[in-house]
Amino acid sequence: MLVLGIETSCDETAAAVVDDARRVRANLVLSQLDQHRPYGGVVPEIAARGHVDHLDTLIGRAMDEAGAAFADLDGVAATAGPGLIGGLMVGLTTAKAIAAVHQLPLMAVNHLEAHALTPRLLGDLAFPYLLLLISGGHCQLLIVEGVGAYRRLGTTIDDALGEAYDKAARMMGLDYPGGPAVEQAAERGDPARFDLPRPMRRRPGCDFSFSGLKTALGTVVRGLGEPLGATDVADLCASFQAAVADVLEDRLRNAAALFHGAHGPGGVLVVAGGVAANRFLRGRLEAAAGALGMTLTAPPPALCTDNAAMVAWAGIERLRLGLTDAMDAPARARWPLDPTARPAVGAGVKA
Ligand code: KG4
Ligand code: ZN
Repeated sequence: MLVLGIETSCDETAAAVVDDARRVRANLVLSQLDQHRPYGGVVPEIAARGHVDHLDTLIGRAMDEAGAAFADLDGVAATAGPGLIGGLMVGLTTAKAIAAVHQLPLMAVNHLEAHALTPRLLGDLAFPYLLLLISGGHCQLLIVEGVGAYRRLGTTIDDALGEAYDKAARMMGLDYPGGPAVEQAAERGDPARFDLPRPMRRRPGCDFSFSGLKTALGTVVRGLGEPLGATDVADLCASFQAAVADVLEDRLRNAAALFHGAHGPGGVLVVAGGVAANRFLRGRLEAAAGALGMTLTAPPPALCTDNAAMVAWAGIERLRLGLTDAMDAPARARWPLDPTARPAVGAGVKA
């Protein structure tokens, strides 16, 4: 089974070809970072136009690299949401056109599901497992019970974790995207120098909040005065990451209790999404999972950040179960994985 995957939900134009023997035959990602960097974040209109400009060529290159013709495909998968609607429409419409011309099944994939199923592309992993999804747009704890079966345990009530990293970086004068910059600066820093808050810690449930941490960091930055020295930045970054890790550990403890209550002791914790590329957080989460009797798995960084291999793989998982979509499948800016989950208090735009 050979599937073409397309990802255009944010600022990465991506195309990949994957087969059901878990071979990633091509996995191309074209980052638009340079176009968005001057604005300190993703500009939706620029993103959509970028996808229009490059997607065709990128798909052609991915097919060439995979040594495959459209006639060799068994299906086409594209991210249909959640994300920036302009970009989603570009990717989904392109997938529909290919599916129509070559008479192929279409899979309209949920971007979060693609992140959630990525570890199954890497090896044998049975359902259920616990998933911590930490990216620029999302911060959720879910139980992955099967393809299309997700139970959301908690989500952010304000900023996503990657968003908090990006905003924190900006306050300290670091480049966008902030995650890698903060992680790198923190390596030389003293995590105990600034006592930053740990929002939601010791509260019941599994929801997250990061806006208070961001505000507290901003107050410290202003107190130090411009320009910040390299040591100040390093110490701020280390203190910020220490606070984040404490919060994740606390929320994970509550989620593990729910997971173990439903499915028994042990189990696997998967960490996915762009922030899962962070080695410091991975280390802390690995220790926390171990203390809870769980094993941690995290995809390699290239499959943690947005990519189309994960979309192709989610397409394969769905195609195998006959879960294909009609040609009128809509692009959806908001598309929660667990439609029964109550909205988190104060949740604005986050799905
Ligand atoms: O999953 P992703 O590529 O896109 C979304 O679906 O959001 O995640 C991007 C986010 C950005 O906010 C970026 O700052 C963050 O992931 N990120 C990191 C690291 N690498 C990327 N955050 C912390 N540490 C990192 N090493
Ligand atoms: Zn993502």
